[in-house]
Amino acid sequence: AFDLSLRPQFLGEYIGQSELKAELSVYIQAAQSREESLDHVLLYGPPGLGKTTLAKVIANEMQVNMQSTSGPAIEKTGDLLALLNELEAGDVLFIDEIHRLPRSVEEMLYSAMEDFYVDIIIGQDEGARALHFPLPPFTLIGATTRPGALSSPLRHRFGIMEHMRYYQVEELEEIVKRSSQVFDSEIASPASHEIALRSRGTPRIANRLFRRVRDFAQVYRDNHMIDLDITRQALTVLQVDEKGLDQLDRKILDTMIKFYQGGPVGLTTIAANLSEEATTIEDMYEPYLIQQGFIQRTPRGRVVTALAYQHLGYPYQEDE
Ligand code: ADE
Repeated sequence: AFDLSLRPQFLGEYIGQSELKAELSVYIQAAQSREESLDHVLLYGPPGLGKTTLAKVIANEMQVNMQSTSGPAIEKTGDLLALLNELEAGDVLFIDEIHRLPRSVEEMLYSAMEDFYVDIIIGQDEGARALHFPLPPFTLIGATTRPGALSSPLRHRFGIMEHMRYYQVEELEEIVKRSSQVFDSEIASPASHEIALRSRGTPRIANRLFRRVRDFAQVYRDNHMIDLDITRQALTVLQVDEKGLDQLDRKILDTMIKFYQGGPVGLTTIAANLSEEATTIEDMYEPYLIQQGFIQRTPRGRVVTALAYQHLGYPYQEDE
């Protein structure tokens, strides 16, 4: 029987990230055989690569419950305390976007992670009292797109740090095929390959494109079969090009070429031109543009490469 959930539940079903899986599998087995909680894990890398999914997989493999939250959702130390209070021995506490925790909350995590207790001060002045809360041993799994934004005391309390990488086309293809089974829809091999090619190394994008392509097949194909033709039509409508670049990707490159002669130009300047947040561009768009060789970072700002000119159909002139 096929498990009807889109997200993999165990390491064995998790596609890609093979080195990371191999490492984690050792740490999980070792912790289990010692009957200890797993050391704290920091997962970092671009968005959409499956950090949350992997955290849940780790909890499943450890056979423990997982409490889930995010940096921006925890505003006060009391919010964190409430979550810590729910934990049983060995449980996972997952904090997405952990770089966005308020400072006071982050500081409370230091003792919680290192020695499994928190001290809280209640009352004021002469009436102030310190309360000491012991905690069960637990595993903090933090996820972040920007590990450099974590304070170094927090970063150093993670015994396991893992870099999530962009997926290979073959891996994305496997993910799309898996999704088509989960959704009980038929997809031709060239079609899943095409989706994989245009998903910029990211399972979240592959799955989103798959769902939209499937909609087109549902409406335009009698048998609902997802073939290469309908896939290409759908991707054209979605304005995702052969390199997987979407409208904003192309606008970023276009702005740099048209208004800044290809750079160097600062990220905040580009962001202001496009009415986007600099962090959105930096975390969600730039990593892939750099990885694909369209943009380079220099000490004076970002520059577009010959490849970007070529991709957008502009003539390229070497610097005089
Ligand atoms: N769905 C999304 N990401 C996945 C992955 N890495 N493996 C299997 N299915 C997925």
